[in-house]
Amino acid sequence: MIIESPLDLVFRDLFYRLRNFVAGHDIFLKLEGFNVTGSIKIKTATALVEDLERRGMAQPGKTVLVESSSGNLGIALSLVCAVKGYEFICVTDPIANRSNIRGIEVYGGRVVIVKERDLVGGYLGSRIEAIDQILRSNSNAVWLNQYANLANKNVHAEETANEIAREFDKIDWIFVGTGTTGTLAGISEGLRGRFPKVKIVAVEPAGSVTFGGMPGKRHIPGIGASVRPELADLANPDQVVVMDERKTIEACLSLVRDHHLLVGGSTGTVLAAVQQIGPAFARGDTVVAISPDLGEKYLDTIYDGAWAESIAAYDASFATASHPAAAE
Ligand SMILES: Cc1ncc(COP(=O)(O)O)c(C=O)c1O
Repeated sequence: MIIESPLDLVFRDLFYRLRNFVAGHDIFLKLEGFNVTGSIKIKTATALVEDLERRGMAQPGKTVLVESSSGNLGIALSLVCAVKGYEFICVTDPIANRSNIRGIEVYGGRVVIVKERDLVGGYLGSRIEAIDQILRSNSNAVWLNQYANLANKNVHAEETANEIAREFDKIDWIFVGTGTTGTLAGISEGLRGRFPKVKIVAVEPAGSVTFGGMPGKRHIPGIGASVRPELADLANPDQVVVMDERKTIEACLSLVRDHHLLVGGSTGTVLAAVQQIGPAFARGDTVVAISPDLGEKYLDTIYDGAWAESIAAYDASFATASHPAAAE
């Protein structure tokens, strides 16, 4: 295989068969973490930029692309912008980990870190304010806005869903973790027409509000949202599973122990949901789950015993201390 650009490093037909993952059932894990920049987000990043180009809203060497991200999309956009000749500014906050920031910077992106918390104690409001300032001060700046941008959904309807449909004669269940909900909404749109009986399961971490959950502190990046993304209106899952982060950690550890693959936190969350729903699978059902990234970048968190214990301790104290307030 000879490639002409790093953007060609997208592996569309990689499915890891997890034998007997749930008693009597193999699960097919769609692996996106071998893509360049290490995640499914390279597809989103390419699509967001090419959508602007198609609409005549981006000119290499002139347009400055702006996005708020602390992880996978930021790195992916930084690469896409470098390849295509755009300046890229990534707005993030002090919670973003250093290797992500360095990843964005080495591809040539500029990182703006907001320092002030917003009125509700998070950083989202401050990030949006910083983006506003950049847009006001530079008429060539364009905000990609992954949480509302239809191109984020469309790329998964046109690409990810087709990649799955090409591999299987039928699909009975598909499990998708949700952040912006672009992957979920796109896969749903792309698969429902072809597989009318498919059951689409959205997987959310506890503390995310996207499908009506109570807001709460979350520690695992990539999935969940503290403000419901606009794209979620276009996602219509058959079922929503809310997963405790402790179960996510357990699922990551057992996958590496039993199936020898180190996966990211959102994959662990999705696999924990597969295990929970497993008793509902019928004989012969084809079950697919999306794995957005791999686990190396989580070695100091999810795969670190002390970190995992601190999460468990935090969650236990939250469970006892916060329920009365949550019920108000
Ligand atoms: C590791 C990981 N998993 C899952 C997701 C969620 O995907 P989406 O934003 O399409 O809902 C993301 C999004 O950034 C991610 O980085």
